[in-house]
Amino acid sequence: MAKNIAVLVSGGGTNLQALIDAQARGEIVNGQISAVIASTPEAYALERAAKAGISGYVVARKDYPSSQAMTVALVDKLHELNIDLVVLAGFMTILTGEMVQAYPNAILNIHPALIPSFAGPGCYGLHVHEKALAYGVKLSGATVHFVSEECDGGPIVLQKAVDVLPDDTPEVLQRRIMEQCEWKLLPQAVSLFCQDRLKVEGRVVRILPE
Ligand code: GAR
Repeated sequence: MAKNIAVLVSGGGTNLQALIDAQARGEIVNGQISAVIASTPEAYALERAAKAGISGYVVARKDYPSSQAMTVALVDKLHELNIDLVVLAGFMTILTGEMVQAYPNAILNIHPALIPSFAGPGCYGLHVHEKALAYGVKLSGATVHFVSEECDGGPIVLQKAVDVLPDDTPEVLQRRIMEQCEWKLLPQAVSLFCQDRLKVEGRVVRILPE
């Protein structure tokens, strides 16, 4: 049975678009994106979903009294939709433990740095690239990992690096990492999960052959 995928978004949704395009090319083997859930009705990602004929939903923090209440509502929605895999693709709202308990080793996140560098609370979006440039690293990249209760601390699935160049601005570095790393790694990791080829052994993820 093909796995039902929900993609959670907050903003522009270029990683969602990479998933939609990969699916159109037949590269998400044994998986189907069946829902896009946004943390705000303004997320442009919802328009990308609509254009691709994928159902869009909004679960916004401001509509609930606490992060926990919002997380529980989100889990209820995912269960109602029979979701097997949750993909956080630029999802900027912190979720509480109920999410990981409902989907153990079945939530993938894309992070725009080489974890464990430039990761954890406060490291999201453009801030990650500002920090990498300020630190002076010569390489950065992206990481797809399983989500655990520790922020950006779950088992690593795939990583890819690019050079940091002398005149990089945060925006230029972000774009290079998106194009060369994120938009490739995320569809690959999703497809591997849907084929049951990711075996988690403690912190280490083994990729099983076809
Ligand atoms: C991406 O660079 C993603 O890696 C990052 O936000 C951006 C979302 O862009 N995620 C995080 O920083 C999570 N900690 P998108 O909406 O165009 O996919």
